[in-house]
Amino acid sequence: MSAPGFDAVGRAFAPDALGKEVRLHGWVLRSRSSGGILFVVLRDRTGSVQVTARRDALGAEPFSAAEKVQAEGAIEVTGTVAEDRRAPGGREVRASRLVVVDAGQPFPIFSDQTEEFLLDKRHLAIRSQEHVATFRVKAELLRALREFLDGEEVLETTPPILSGNAAEGGAEAFRIDYFGRPGYLSQTAQLYLEALLFPHERVYALTPSFRAEKSRTPRHLTEYLHLEVELAWCDLARLLDFEERMVCSVAHVLAERRPKELSELGRPPEELLALRPPFPRLRYDEAIERLEAQGFPVRWGSDLGTAEEKALTLEEKSPIFLTHFPKEIKAFYMLRSPGDARTVEAADLLAPEGYGELIGGSCRETDVGLLTERIREVGANVEEYDWYLDLRRHGSIPHAGFGLGIERILRWLLRREHIRETTPFPRTPARHTP
Ligand code: 4AD
Ligand code: MG
Repeated sequence: MSAPGFDAVGRAFAPDALGKEVRLHGWVLRSRSSGGILFVVLRDRTGSVQVTARRDALGAEPFSAAEKVQAEGAIEVTGTVAEDRRAPGGREVRASRLVVVDAGQPFPIFSDQTEEFLLDKRHLAIRSQEHVATFRVKAELLRALREFLDGEEVLETTPPILSGNAAEGGAEAFRIDYFGRPGYLSQTAQLYLEALLFPHERVYALTPSFRAEKSRTPRHLTEYLHLEVELAWCDLARLLDFEERMVCSVAHVLAERRPKELSELGRPPEELLALRPPFPRLRYDEAIERLEAQGFPVRWGSDLGTAEEKALTLEEKSPIFLTHFPKEIKAFYMLRSPGDARTVEAADLLAPEGYGELIGGSCRETDVGLLTERIREVGANVEEYDWYLDLRRHGSIPHAGFGLGIERILRWLLRREHIRETTPFPRTPARHTP
């Protein structure tokens, strides 16, 4: 699809395009002029092509206007597709007409600028090839996830982002003034998904989640895209089976549909095609033993930080599940392990190569008494959760679910150093503009 009367740039490389006339419009990637010939690399959403424009073909005035176009200026070109071994892709468009749509001011972005400057100019920086490749893969990832979930008969639902509850722990929620009453930006859609589970049995939501964590790490954003799934009649074994099938499925789809972008970004598609279930499972107590043996200052009950997760996964090729955490370091709604009241039926999926947690999931406590006790223990207000406790009063059933951080998984899949490279306008403690 192209604007009426225009071809896409990619058309210049079609087998039958040689010798034909094309009409293109787009942005100037770079240009130089020498001896009455202007060389322009023209970009649109389908790719880029070299355009050569001669002063004698264009006329003196249009030529001199074209010479003044800056990088990222916009032009229209009519010309003939020709073979040229020196041009990228082996072809060029020889212009008979060149119209300047917007010559543009000097583009402020070029090589070797600081990260801070590039973040200030993010609205322009996202035109770079690296960002284009990243966000094409991100769109494909979201599509692949939806296709997988659709295939599993999981229903897409639309829980709210504004809430009167802070579900994952009040300290890290963004508080807002909701017409004079306290409100929060959602940290998770889980509690609402649990309510939606009763009429639909298998539900998911893809929503922004907000975390008011001051963590300045390469894997924390204050706003991220959260895919959350909730499954009825599900135990921990089946939950992990579902998660690993989902991760492998989307990794394979990306390798098949976006091999060029993956390679460009430094992830050989073959590495994603090699992912296979089952992923290794490691119990928390085994992990603690392993870490103690490596000299980490941890003991049973310690929460595992970035360094510990890294040590557990640095040598892995596949993600691994870490299971059965002490209940004290996990959320109030997690189901106590049958036969061990100290641990919960929960699992984090950790990415290989030290990229850290991708998914947090668990079975949910079904007993209204035990759940109330846990809400009290974590110091939350039982009354605020009364609506949630209703779910345990009317047909409570075993169920489980998980949350996947979209930018987290993308960071690992695309080997990005910092999570901010996986979202067009990153939100971090230091920045919420542009
Ligand atoms: O482990 P978390 O906190 O789990 C929950 O919110 C559950 N209620 C989800 C559920 O069971 N429905 O968050 C889930 C995932 C993490 O594994 C991580 O991938 C991502 O969300 N995440 C973040 N991603 C980017 N920046 C942050 N600050 C993140 N915090 C969590
Ligand atoms: Mg977690």
